[in-house]
Amino acid sequence: MIDFHTHILPGIDDGSRDLSMTEEMLAEESRQGVTEVVATPHFYAHRMSFDRFLENRDLAARSTAELLKKRGDLPKIYTGAEVYYFQGMGRAERVKELCVTGTDTILVEMPFAQWNEQVFDDMHDLVMRQHLKVVIAHIERYYEFQKDRSVWDEVFGLPVTRQINAGSFLRGWLKSRFAMKVKREHPETLVGTDCHNMDKRRPNLLEAREIIARKIGQDALDESDARLDQLLQDAEEI
Ligand SMILES: [Fe+2]
Repeated sequence: MIDFHTHILPGIDDGSRDLSMTEEMLAEESRQGVTEVVATPHFYAHRMSFDRFLENRDLAARSTAELLKKRGDLPKIYTGAEVYYFQGMGRAERVKELCVTGTDTILVEMPFAQWNEQVFDDMHDLVMRQHLKVVIAHIERYYEFQKDRSVWDEVFGLPVTRQINAGSFLRGWLKSRFAMKVKREHPETLVGTDCHNMDKRRPNLLEAREIIARKIGQDALDESDARLDQLLQDAEEI
């Protein structure tokens, strides 16, 4: 079992505060049967340079690697980023450096506003010009802003992968109905936790997978697991 979306590296964003919280979160992932975790700290191009981000991530990954060495029972970790959309990202060469290390797979957080043609052009260029495998983070969080669905439809007409947060299958009638509908219609849709801590945003992948297996069927999980295997082929462990 793989958790593709986490804020589990210590002290780098609004996720895990320190190494002991990282340890607790990883132990909880492991308890639920997660064997691989992709660490996806937030990257905001308007707040931090690429170099600074990569340096910070490297430091956090190094201390976490020490922890993994000390304890033999924690999941493997790959490093990536949750890259917040910025205008022109489709043509920004360095965006590639934010892919999951060793792969061409990138997790993109989209604007929490009406998407426009520029947003589509950037996604188009990431996929078609830079040949990246784009995963759109927690798609359930943008939907309400798309009064005009035409750009939404165009974006998902591209060969991108949808990701939905585990919690959205578990809470709120409207959100869980949307999540189930997407997972049923597009079973390759990834389920990730987007875990930030051990409190309100804790690792909860197992619970979501159980409910999906019950309501939609194990096949839907097998499809997204197969998609994840493709996306993470050649990913390098920390
Ligand atoms: Fe996130």
